Amino acid sequence: MAHFLQQLGVSLPLIQSPMAGLQDSALTIAVSDAGGLGSLPAAMLTPQALQQELDLLSQRKQPYNLNFFCHQMPTYDTEQQEVWQTVLAPYYKAYGITATNQNPAAASAPFNAEMLNLLEHYKPPFLSFHFGLPEPALCQQLKKWRTKIISTATTIAEALYLQERGVDAIIAQGLEAGGHRGHFLTDDLSVQMGTFALLPQIVKAVHCPVIAAGGISDATGVAAALSLGAAAVQVGTAYLLCPEAKTTPLHRAAIKSSAAQHTALTNLFSGRPARAIMNKLMQELGPMNAKAPPFPLARAAITPLRAAAEQTGCSDFSPMWCGQNVSGCQEISAFELTQQLCKGVKTLK
Ligand SMILES: Cc1cc2nc3c(=O)[nH]c(=O)nc-3n(C[C@H](O)[C@H](O)[C@H](O)COP(=O)(O)O)c2cc1C
Repeated sequence: MAHFLQQLGVSLPLIQSPMAGLQDSALTIAVSDAGGLGSLPAAMLTPQALQQELDLLSQRKQPYNLNFFCHQMPTYDTEQQEVWQTVLAPYYKAYGITATNQNPAAASAPFNAEMLNLLEHYKPPFLSFHFGLPEPALCQQLKKWRTKIISTATTIAEALYLQERGVDAIIAQGLEAGGHRGHFLTDDLSVQMGTFALLPQIVKAVHCPVIAAGGISDATGVAAALSLGAAAVQVGTAYLLCPEAKTTPLHRAAIKSSAAQHTALTNLFSGRPARAIMNKLMQELGPMNAKAPPFPLARAAITPLRAAAEQTGCSDFSPMWCGQNVSGCQEISAFELTQQLCKGVKTLK
């Protein structure tokens, strides 16, 4: 049977990681133009913004991948927010900020029926999910459109769970990966593995194609993942310095400096563990802190601090998402980077 990417016209076994808040369709298009599968993170877009991006992407011949979150939305708890604001109070004071209770839930809703309705007109070729899968009725509708469904596993148990629910491919996300961990069956971080420990074990456990993600940043890494049984790779961090990415100047500077040698999983910025470059907030409060409200409710309290600090050129409160391997980050076009990553790799047939 043809490769699951090639079935819908992708010619290279490479998916660009969707990176919410750090890219729009410019990156998606550049990667798809180079023969890889470009992704568009939709989790934090308004319906209007998503529609505009889909209008752009669907006018083009190349396939694309749309990405959503599937977390359980927690109840907004004012008391919990106040506890968190108390932890942050010294920093608020330093910047002259007054805490306000804002519920950011609407901006980070999990994939739901309204989103599905919006997609009906476009019937996207690929949809990838982070933090599990949406309810079965929504997946069934996607299958009717022949949309390929992909989701992330961070353990063998999660891979088996996804296979049982009929996904078309599974992303094996190793601990090196930048951004949010995609775990959904357990919060116990001690069960999380590195990419090259996780990948062959998931390949052995499931029948569907497995995509390796985490720490892959050059052609040698791509070849190594493919030789360990991956059907494709998913690469995020390596794209962060490309001109098409929306990485801020402060974030870019950190990636280019020795600061990027120290990343850690932190829940301070969103409420869920995600890998970022260590900064003052992570050093002083965590990087993991039990008082941070659950995802995505921790975000609102940090946002004004981040904005005030960034205005003075300071990244002490910025979530600088980044994987452990920045050696492949280059200030070249995403088209060129995609081709470099796949140098020597056979075109899909
Ligand atoms: C800046 C950044 C943002 C990310 N945002 C998302 C996201 O919105 N959705 C998602 O499914 N994965 C996201 N990820 C995780 C990726 O899907 C993937 O696991 C990771 O990029 C692979 O590791 P690497 O960054 O070392 O290449 C993000 C990764 C990074 C680096």
